[in-house]
Amino acid sequence: MTEQPDTPVIASLHNVVKRYAGLPAVDALNIEIRAGEILGLLGPSASGKTTAIALLAGLVPPDRGRITLFGTDVSALAPKSRSVGSLLHRIGVVPQEPALFDDLTVGEHLRFFGELFGLRNPVLEQLCGSVLELMHLTERRDTRAGRLNSGMRRRLNMACALVHRPQILILDEPTVGIDPGSRRQILDSVRTLNARGTTVLYASHHMSEVEAICTRIAIMDHGRILVSGTVPELIERLGADDRIRVRIDRTVPDLRARLSELAGVHHCSEEPDSLVIIAEHGQVRLARVVEVVARCGAEVIQADLVRPTLDDLFLSLTGRTLRG
Ligand SMILES: Nc1ncnc2c1ncn2[C@@H]1O[C@H](COP(=O)(O)OP(=O)(O)O)[C@@H](O)[C@H]1O
Ligand SMILES: [Mg+2]
Repeated sequence: MTEQPDTPVIASLHNVVKRYAGLPAVDALNIEIRAGEILGLLGPSASGKTTAIALLAGLVPPDRGRITLFGTDVSALAPKSRSVGSLLHRIGVVPQEPALFDDLTVGEHLRFFGELFGLRNPVLEQLCGSVLELMHLTERRDTRAGRLNSGMRRRLNMACALVHRPQILILDEPTVGIDPGSRRQILDSVRTLNARGTTVLYASHHMSEVEAICTRIAIMDHGRILVSGTVPELIERLGADDRIRVRIDRTVPDLRARLSELAGVHHCSEEPDSLVIIAEHGQVRLARVVEVVARCGAEVIQADLVRPTLDDLFLSLTGRTLRG
């Protein structure tokens, strides 16, 4: 999907600060969610993703800043008055930790959440059926949640947030600790919902997932957005940087430090059997890299030069890898 700059903003955080015990969990945070997009909120653990979601969903009040939902300033509204205005009916939140009742069946969960939103039969029955189908849970309708495997629990957790057909779906790390099949089904269902018109905020620390499904990405660290844009826009920000990966025949204690000092090299990190160097105009630097390796008494077995990835962008912005 191409991004329309004039697409209406349907939810936002402006300069929002939220502190816990004096320490900011989000710090002057700015996020705009535009109608029809899948916005990826990408950040390492403790960067403030869950807090940002709790603020949007009205689960915690901000210390400072403005939060809007569908054009209404909700910063000052208590969660109760939000639901009176039915704003909460228009969003669905899939929490990071599945919030399920082990003794209720899959079908009972969906009816329970649907009734919370005021839905009654026959509409409720029909909505439950379509959500079960979307999340590949139809055959598990009568299974108790306590007997589901972790992938099915994640899918049920997501299904519960969908029965009332929210306009914005907010997912908080929905694929943690599950099998590849369930992961694929979750990603596919996010795409399907988006194609049907649902706007999505997808928080994750998995670069590959965010890159695969999001139309726009906001990279978050220490409670702030460092940069946002489409994947090509973000890659563009790396300018002339390239990524050089060299495999060498032995470990040399201070090689990484020596390479980091080379002109044009922005970053050098060590992986199990290779060194990864982010450098301006990589092809120009490669010969110098090989030379330095040789001078340190080692030999280059293989060298690859590629355009950098979003992982590299994150690295160059924060000095850390997403996983680290
Ligand atoms: N309820 C809370 N009480 C105290 N500290 C919290 C609470 N929620 C989050 N934090 C802190 O705020 C920071 C951001 O956390 P969180 O929003 O959960 O990040 P993420 O979802 O990106 O892992 C972390 O340092 C975390 O320890
Ligand atoms: Mg979190």
